[in-house]
Amino acid sequence: MIIQVVRIGQRVVRDDRVTTHVALVSRAFGAEKIFMTEVNPEIKDTLEKINNTWGGDFIVEFIDNWKSIVKNKKEDGFKIIHLSMYGEKINDIQVQLHKEEKILVVVGAEKVPREIYDLADYNIAVGSQPHSEISALAILLDRIQNGKQFEKIFPDAKRRIIPTKNGKNVEVNETRA
Ligand SMILES: C[S@@+](CC[C@H](N)C(=O)[O-])C[C@H]1O[C@@H](n2cnc3c(N)ncnc32)[C@H](O)[C@@H]1O
Repeated sequence: MIIQVVRIGQRVVRDDRVTTHVALVSRAFGAEKIFMTEVNPEIKDTLEKINNTWGGDFIVEFIDNWKSIVKNKKEDGFKIIHLSMYGEKINDIQVQLHKEEKILVVVGAEKVPREIYDLADYNIAVGSQPHSEISALAILLDRIQNGKQFEKIFPDAKRRIIPTKNGKNVEVNETRA
């Protein structure tokens, strides 16, 4: 399954950390790419450093217009999943998502434009209470992949954690470029 994420909008400065965390969750939970608007360029550098140390080639792409990305992806066969507390219950819809091959997940920052509800193939709520795009995204990605995302190998890592019961065990390979 190919998973990409788009974040719509951001409250300048105030949201930098949240935006970075949306990107980190996307990467760690199996997405290959995030599109984001109006952001601090340092977020891209942060994710490049993470790739460099922990492997993989997760991509951050800055965009001017979220709507054209959503429309282009739809034409390219992606199903659009918009995360919204007003949507259908994830518990009712998750089985249906397992059959999808290409997914673009849309998360908001503040109030999202009305159009996204109509453009989406699915409007999905992770509980019908307001919380956070970081948590909603993590839970959706886990429900879609049934935990398999945590078995993914991140190639060319300089550091790889060997899971351990107590303390930290990290394999270091500094020969990697
Ligand atoms: C901080 S919320 C802002 C929501 C805003 N008040 C609105 O009405 O659109 C930011 C984003 O988190 C996600 N989100 C928050 N709670 C959610 C929930 N219960 N289920 C799904 N997504 C949620 C949505 O993608 C939302 O756009």
